[in-house]
Amino acid sequence: MVEKGKVSKEPYLELLKTLEEAENKNLVDWNAMNIATVCQNGQPSSRMVLLKKISDQGISFYSNFSSRKGKEIDLNAKVAVNFWWRELKKQIRIEGVISKASEQDSDAYFDSRPIKSRVSAIISNQSSKIESYAVLTNQIEEYLSKNDESSIKRPKHCGLYLISPNAIEFWKERDNRTHERLKYELSLENKWESFLLSP
Ligand SMILES: Cc1cc2nc3c(=O)[nH]c(=O)nc-3n(C[C@H](O)[C@H](O)[C@H](O)COP(=O)(O)O)c2cc1C
Repeated sequence: MVEKGKVSKEPYLELLKTLEEAENKNLVDWNAMNIATVCQNGQPSSRMVLLKKISDQGISFYSNFSSRKGKEIDLNAKVAVNFWWRELKKQIRIEGVISKASEQDSDAYFDSRPIKSRVSAIISNQSSKIESYAVLTNQIEEYLSKNDESSIKRPKHCGLYLISPNAIEFWKERDNRTHERLKYELSLENKWESFLLSP
């Protein structure tokens, strides 16, 4: 489920329209996106995450703040995101700055998750080395047996990230490599400017 907040202006309207096109076609993991971060020595890394919210403020996903991506984000808040839907022949590229969403939004999302996902988020030390998956499963079962559901609260190391874009490119496949590229960039005056790019 993707929460849709207030979306009232371009390029967010186009972004939402494309996401809804993918959703309405029931594409598997239509809200999956790749996010790239960069570590201190300049090495980029990327991974898939699921979009959870879109609004005029930007786009959000849920993760572990102490994971590899979380540690990289702590040192460099510049990120790049990529969506691609084969069936739509569309790609969307986003660049921007990432921050933690409000505690309130993170709590609300955490509380909406199934109990095992909540406990797994508490137990899992995402991106750290582990001995075996059996150990992890046992820890989850032990936690579940010792704790009442009402006592399960979002741990501080998990929550929603908010990406505030400063560039969004809409790419549409066309015949004979004449693909369309419409790019929006946020100007220094905080206004969105758009232009076409050669394929
Ligand atoms: C389709 C798909 C969706 C995923 N969604 C998320 C997600 O929403 N949040 C998340 O933390 N990891 C998600 N993952 C796992 C990440 O790709 C990644 O393994 C994990 O976040 C650890 O990345 P890191 O070590 O670079 O921090 C997803 C993986 C796939 C394949």
